[in-house]
Amino acid sequence: MISAVDLSYSYAPGMPALSRISFTFRAGERVLLLGANGAGKSTLLSLCNGLLRPCGGELRLLGEPVEYSKAGLRRLRSHVSTVLQDAGDQLFGATVLQDVAMGPLETGMQEAAARELAMETLDLLGGGHLAERPIHALSAGEKKRVALAGVLTVRPSILLLDEPSAGLDAPGEDALLDTLSACAERGMAICVATHNTWLLRHWATRAVVLRGGRLVFDGASEDLLPHWDRQTAGCGLRAPAEAEGVTLCR
Ligand SMILES: Nc1ncnc2c1ncn2[C@@H]1O[C@H](COP(=O)(O)OP(=O)(O)OP(=O)(O)O)[C@@H](O)[C@H]1O
Ligand SMILES: [Mg+2]
Repeated sequence: MISAVDLSYSYAPGMPALSRISFTFRAGERVLLLGANGAGKSTLLSLCNGLLRPCGGELRLLGEPVEYSKAGLRRLRSHVSTVLQDAGDQLFGATVLQDVAMGPLETGMQEAAARELAMETLDLLGGGHLAERPIHALSAGEKKRVALAGVLTVRPSILLLDEPSAGLDAPGEDALLDTLSACAERGMAICVATHNTWLLRHWATRAVVLRGGRLVFDGASEDLLPHWDRQTAGCGLRAPAEAEGVTLCR
């Protein structure tokens, strides 16, 4: 579906943020993108949706190199949707319902149908009660639910999520994971950048690990767990068993 071939990116000369990353995301995959702060996760997601243009290598969509013209980027974004690390940056409607309905309206859907779809999607994510609230009056976790609902209404074939469960309460995270699993079952490729290694055991089918802008592991989640210490040394990740053992009263 979407492939990176030797993808490299630098924000400043001589300071590579990503070096020669290659992978392919396939339909129905549930991928965790792991790595320490500054490892390059958000940069990689921004390359995958065309927000950034690679300094080296290439991004391919359905086997074709991505073109960075207006039409090429429109094509890329008709397949790839992203929820940003700071979800508030991608909300533009006056109210929640207006914001979530915006995507379907842009694809030509009638207003009543778009509002109905927006409402259904908000309900799925446990955000139905927010529908008439102004965007500026939402909490951080509520903004995240609204941004997620907004991208899901356009039914992308590839969904990239940057720290989607950060800021969500437990019911919010459960609703998110159930919804993402249902989307993957329908064939959507989903990539979640996160520090939450609990998701390795409980949600992901595949893990991609970055260290200092380089890819150090790409494979099935269950293949990462037995060699955790060796594969993830210096990656700033809590071992999944340890993550599960953390309790509030410790
Ligand atoms: N706008 C920017 N300008 C310059 N350097 C940047 C910029 N954004 C990120 N970087 C640098 O690029 C590298 C990769 O950053 P990136 O944001 O992709 O990391 P990350 O893995 O998403 O980290 P986090 O877990 O903190 O979200 C880091 O060294 C970072 O300091
Ligand atoms: Mg990031």
